Amino acid sequence: MSRTARLDSAHITPSAHYTGYIWYRHRLAEAPFVTPFGRLAYGVLAPVSWGARVAFGLDLERLLLQRHLLIDARLHEAIQQRGVCQVVEIACGLSPRGRRFCARYPELRYLEADLPPMAARKRLLLHEEGWLDTRHQVHPVDILAQQGANDLQALFAGLDREAPLLVITEGLVNYFALPVIEAFWSRLAAQMRRFPSATYLTDLYPDLQEHPRYRQLRWGIDLVGRLTRGRYYLHYRNDREIAEGFGDCGFREVRVHGPKELGTGQVEAWPGLVRVVEARV
Ligand SMILES: C[S@@+](CC[C@H](N)C(=O)[O-])C[C@H]1O[C@@H](n2cnc3c(N)ncnc32)[C@H](O)[C@@H]1O
Repeated sequence: MSRTARLDSAHITPSAHYTGYIWYRHRLAEAPFVTPFGRLAYGVLAPVSWGARVAFGLDLERLLLQRHLLIDARLHEAIQQRGVCQVVEIACGLSPRGRRFCARYPELRYLEADLPPMAARKRLLLHEEGWLDTRHQVHPVDILAQQGANDLQALFAGLDREAPLLVITEGLVNYFALPVIEAFWSRLAAQMRRFPSATYLTDLYPDLQEHPRYRQLRWGIDLVGRLTRGRYYLHYRNDREIAEGFGDCGFREVRVHGPKELGTGQVEAWPGLVRVVEARV
């Protein structure tokens, strides 16, 4: 299963270079996180992104920033208010979050994880910069693996079972059909229940059919699907359905956050498209 599954979603990996460049452009990442492919992809897509902004008011870069900053805000809160001291970021790609949070919180343990090739690349990057140490590490994982060296059980094996845990996925869940990602969420919730308290944070794009920019959103979604040589799915139609869906996967307490929480600098004139789900087991 693991090998097939890895092949099934490996086409998603190049998108991590593009988002990695976006974080750098907005001063969220240091230069080593930039790859030549990320820079190239940004340049090639710049006219499309400009067109979408001018013609439809759809600002892809802002959309990405909203999700990243919302997750950051929830993570700061979890560390400062709820004593979270170990974080697992699955599908980390070239995200600089682990680096930034380890620099800010000297007691924090941060485990990044991705498909084996991307995990190897990220480990090398952190190692070359001298940022890899016992509390900041990278492991391979395949969220589709139900058993084996890259499954969730192997990823969580070295964590402290007595300490609160927080798990992140960003830019991942909408690449998978709902039954596939719900099966992952159920396996994740089962692993998280082994800790005294555990929170899951993920961005999610719902199917907001009443949204004033729904047609443009569909266009953007299809484009992302084509660019990543796969499909991009929208999950659930509103916050209530999100809460019910996560409840069915074994999460007990679900809060749904939106871009309004970020304050004026990052908010659109029209309702935001991205949600950040904060779910506890
Ligand atoms: C759009 S990128 C997002 C990267 C990063 N989280 C960010 O926001 O910049 C999607 C990431 O998901 C990873 N990925 C794809 N399929 C996966 C799987 N089955 N298991 C774990 N990670 C996967 C890719 O390798 C890639 O790094």
